[in-house]
Amino acid sequence: MAAKLGRNDPCWCGSGKKYKTCHEAFDERIAKYAMAGHKVPEHKMIKNADQIAGIRQSAKINIAVLDYIAEHIHEGMSTLEIDRMVYEQTTAMGGMPAPLNYDGYPYSVCTSVNEQVCHGFPSDKVILKEGDIVNVDCSTVLNGYYSDSSRMYCIGKVSPEKQRLVDVTRECVQKGVEEVKPWGFMGDMGQAVHDHAFANGYTVVREIGGHGVGVQFHEDPWISYNSVRGTEMLLVPGMVFTIEPMVNMGKVEIYIDKKNDWEVYTQDGLPSAQWEVTVLVTEDGHEIISW
Ligand code: MF3
Ligand code: CO
Repeated sequence: MAAKLGRNDPCWCGSGKKYKTCHEAFDERIAKYAMAGHKVPEHKMIKNADQIAGIRQSAKINIAVLDYIAEHIHEGMSTLEIDRMVYEQTTAMGGMPAPLNYDGYPYSVCTSVNEQVCHGFPSDKVILKEGDIVNVDCSTVLNGYYSDSSRMYCIGKVSPEKQRLVDVTRECVQKGVEEVKPWGFMGDMGQAVHDHAFANGYTVVREIGGHGVGVQFHEDPWISYNSVRGTEMLLVPGMVFTIEPMVNMGKVEIYIDKKNDWEVYTQDGLPSAQWEVTVLVTEDGHEIISW
């Protein structure tokens, strides 16, 4: 927690109100959890109304781009064509794809096919064929505000096994989202995600997780789905983060392609699926900001 504010000082949240009539009681409530040994959010993880409005605007574009992909993705196209669509649609609406040049990432979007877990490079050599399952992971920055979500797309008729993986992974995210509420814990969400995947015979990737989002692309906290109810960070109104589990049909182990240090695959070569939402903790529950 930042330096202690005087009770009559302007509140740290930027409301212009005095601290004592704004977030003082809120901070005291958080401090009780910290004293009991819980991880608690820092002020910078708590968004104010202006920031939330900015993130919502950014998400409008992100959602529209994923809707556009849903209409235009088809067998026989390359994943590089998806990259072009994402760039063109995002910029046409005034946004920028956040992945482009992020940490040296060379494309506008991640396209991860079948046993690719995440961060798949769009390529003119990857031609979508019937039976493929593809994650398209879109992130938008608009006026400095970030949104992040991804969906699975099934190309033509896919096997019942792959369809079930895609469906269950989506259910995992839904079950995780349902747990998001103020004065709950990140682990409530994480365990709900993990339990549903596990009950269906799947594994949840351990090394890559969700993250705070909004003012930067990737903010603290880092978010695991191999977590336990009642543990991990306390959730409070104004937190914005992603829920984006990668669920493997087979074993949990993954590897990163040494050729580019980005693309992630399952070690056993079995398919992996991922859905991602950006979610806001509200006063009485949650709001899905991008999906
Ligand atoms: N959109 C991904 C996420 O969910 C991030 C991809 S990293 C990038 O966090 F650099 F490739 F953009
Ligand atoms: Co993300």
